[in-house]
Amino acid sequence: SANPRVLSGIQPTADSFHLGNYLGALRQWVALQDSHEAFYCVVDLHAITVEHDPAALRRRTKVSAAQLLAMGVDPERSTLFVQSHVPEHAELAWVLSCLTGFGEASRMTQFKDKSAKQGAAAASVGLFTYPILQAADILLYTPETGEDAPLFRVPVGEDQRQHLELTRDLAQRFNHRFGDTFVLPEAHIPQGAAKITDLQEPTAKMSKSASSPQGIIDVLEEPGPMRKKIMRAVTDTGTEVRYDEENKAGVTNLLRIFSALEGAPVADLEKRYEGQGYGQFKKDLAQLVLDTFTPIRERTEKLLGDEEQLDRLLRHGAERAGAVAARTMELVRDQVGF
Ligand code: ADP
Ligand code: NA
Repeated sequence: SANPRVLSGIQPTADSFHLGNYLGALRQWVALQDSHEAFYCVVDLHAITVEHDPAALRRRTKVSAAQLLAMGVDPERSTLFVQSHVPEHAELAWVLSCLTGFGEASRMTQFKDKSAKQGAAAASVGLFTYPILQAADILLYTPETGEDAPLFRVPVGEDQRQHLELTRDLAQRFNHRFGDTFVLPEAHIPQGAAKITDLQEPTAKMSKSASSPQGIIDVLEEPGPMRKKIMRAVTDTGTEVRYDEENKAGVTNLLRIFSALEGAPVADLEKRYEGQGYGQFKKDLAQLVLDTFTPIRERTEKLLGDEEQLDRLLRHGAERAGAVAARTMELVRDQVGF
């Protein structure tokens, strides 16, 4: 029978993805293609929920798509597309928003976090309802219902669990009210996904919005600065390369990165660097990060150098995604009474 379907999206909100995005999500996107029918989406509609610069958005959407291709998302096996190229996302979001209770939407904790800086009253309604757009992003790609419907998976980190629950609730509500339409998506915990922390504040998440430039490694960063940042990563006053989340958060983060990139268990790394101090360990880690990201950067640059070809790939993705989305939307429209 058919492979399970998997759906995931990422916002084009920076000029480069970072090491945390790569090890926590994007590397798994590439791996999942072997066992899944994958739909991967650059979610530019989500990027306008906060104030944005149009030229930057346009550039970042392309840079994001190019990086995904450079990392190994295969546009033949998988459907890679830009959300705004498929208008059904906004259309289904409207229908789902009419099924969402105001109180229910108000319970989404990410809105509280994301609007904390400006205050809820100053935040856009789009930021408030963005979990509903996310539900639409997912449910448009529902496999057809029926006895042999393939599994439908969405990779989720902790911070997205509540949104996937909302998506399932909305799918169930729609099915109940209007007739069987959506397969309920399941949370998929990607194998080997690693939580990466800030190189300068190793108890905080590495994040494009919160990390200082020294605390974050960009995928597209030049080799020189990349190496320096790792050599200058905060460790502790000890000398032992040992995994200890509580007392050695910095070294522990570096061990996690090393282990994820090389595929060696942490215990093997501890043994390898026994009695060597942090210097050699960091030097080898810097090389490993460079060896991983240099080819990705070079491929990204090459893809961006031929914009016509990139546009063609994205149009092809939008056509494939659009065909599935149109089929789902046709059913939804009919069920709702349009
Ligand atoms: P950011 O936190 O930098 O704003 P996003 O929230 O856009 O990044 O995250 C995009 C994807 O990357 C999500 O799947 C998220 O779980 C993952 N991710 C982001 N930062 C990290 C990190 N530090 N470690 C692991 N995964 C991360
Ligand atoms: Na985030």
